[in-house]
Amino acid sequence: MRWTVSSTKFAEIAVDLIVFPVFQSQGQADLKLLLRIAGGPPAKATAKTKAHGHSDLKAIITAAGFKAEAGTTLPIHCSGVKAGWFLLVGMGDPAATGLQDLRKAAAAAAQKARAMGATKVALAMLPAAVFGFDDAAIARSWAEGAEMALSPVGALKTGKDKAQAPVAWTLLAEAGRGRVLRAGLAEAEAMVGGCLFARELVNLPPNLLTPAVLATRARGMARREGLKCRVLGVPELKKLKMGGLLGVGQGSVHPPRLIVVEYRGSRSAKAPKIALVGKGVTFDSGGISLKPGAGMDEMKADMAGAAGVLGAALIIARLKLPVNLQVVVPTAENMPDGGAIKPADVLTMASGKTVEVLNTDAEGRLILADGLWYAGRGKPDYLLDMATLTGACVVALGNHFAGIMGNSAELMETLKQAGGETFERVWPLPLVDEHKEMMKGTWGDLQNIGGGRDGGALTAAAFLSAFVDDATAWMHLDIAGPSYSAKASGTCPAGGTGFGARLLARTVQILVG
Ligand code: BES
Ligand code: MN
Ligand code: ZN
Repeated sequence: MRWTVSSTKFAEIAVDLIVFPVFQSQGQADLKLLLRIAGGPPAKATAKTKAHGHSDLKAIITAAGFKAEAGTTLPIHCSGVKAGWFLLVGMGDPAATGLQDLRKAAAAAAQKARAMGATKVALAMLPAAVFGFDDAAIARSWAEGAEMALSPVGALKTGKDKAQAPVAWTLLAEAGRGRVLRAGLAEAEAMVGGCLFARELVNLPPNLLTPAVLATRARGMARREGLKCRVLGVPELKKLKMGGLLGVGQGSVHPPRLIVVEYRGSRSAKAPKIALVGKGVTFDSGGISLKPGAGMDEMKADMAGAAGVLGAALIIARLKLPVNLQVVVPTAENMPDGGAIKPADVLTMASGKTVEVLNTDAEGRLILADGLWYAGRGKPDYLLDMATLTGACVVALGNHFAGIMGNSAELMETLKQAGGETFERVWPLPLVDEHKEMMKGTWGDLQNIGGGRDGGALTAAAFLSAFVDDATAWMHLDIAGPSYSAKASGTCPAGGTGFGARLLARTVQILVG
């Protein structure tokens, strides 16, 4: 979609539809007041919406039972307006409206516009005070919500998709607001780019997204965004003695890779160095410790951490943040075959530590161990990893929160703030010596699962901590819950959610701000 700002009058703007946000004032939608505030025309409804026997807008709204409740929409056809159609979008109680409510309203409007076949859409920018946010935040959130709600799915279905999504959005506002609105739109363009890039990767089926293809996709993104990309294949992984990544990949006909994407946003020695590591298991069958069949298809999304960190790199590059970033993606397919790793195997990791494999389904931590070691070699100021690591985290926190564990109060606070803003929410979980103790091995330095099922997300993080330098500010995000959704929600069709791309980019933005 193309986003522009214009100060053209309502009556004259050549679009198919003008979206008009309506807040609840004193429990009802007072459209006339809002039209006056926005300098709109005294439009009269035409026969198309006269069904209720009124041409007065307020009477129509009342007759239609439109109460401006959040998420509701009401199309009205009006005379004296080139566009013809207005689409009222309920915004609910202005005092309770957050940025995510703006995204959701935009999503509802965008979906309705698509259903109405409107390809050119305008948004009446009420005064910023009506929304309760500044113009940049309003424009950004609106564009994010509309774009994310209509993010493409079904690319592999043949036949024509009937509904034509809007291709152009115009924000209608007084000329003086243009600069700030455009700045918000530019931020949204970056954020949405990263989120949709991540979603697309997660949604690809595992036969079409092998480790090699993920590497090719990362390379393509890096080229387009002006980033450096290096892909290490099996011979190089052997040289680095990456026993974890090689071990997980050895049961598959699709060999593993290590993808490294770098963005240099500053020449200053003082600019922070940030490393992001993402789990890229393109399919997790469990390996020899095979998963049950039901729901195994969702394990195509076991590379959502990788998709998220790559999406974050895209955003950070587009926002030109003054930071030096390294994104590391260990990627493998976890399959059972004659060559696969087995319970009781002992692997030697790149760091030199040995790990006894007790369950081949605890594979994410094995590849992350090598990824974290690789990223740590660059001595980053901040090290974050993101992974669909444990079902236990889903049991603990459900689908709306990622668990965060690490050694840095600063990173924890920053992630909480960023997650509140992007609505990719995180919740802290403990990382303590008792759990590290549980990961000590009998036959190797470590074992890859703790005792039983208890605290599975926490013992997984404890395992990872053995591959991170204590002096490095580090945080682990377990996104097993929020990374994938079998059901559509307001701003996301069913499938990959793109969780983490915007969150990590915003986190980096706060860290360098
Ligand atoms: N990829 C899974 C975790 C997962 C589960 C992600 C559900 C998304 C939704 C991971 O590799 C895994 O299998 N973890 C095991 C660990 C166990 C063997 C210690 C799990 O959670 O059961
Ligand atoms: Mn697994
Ligand atoms: Zn996994």
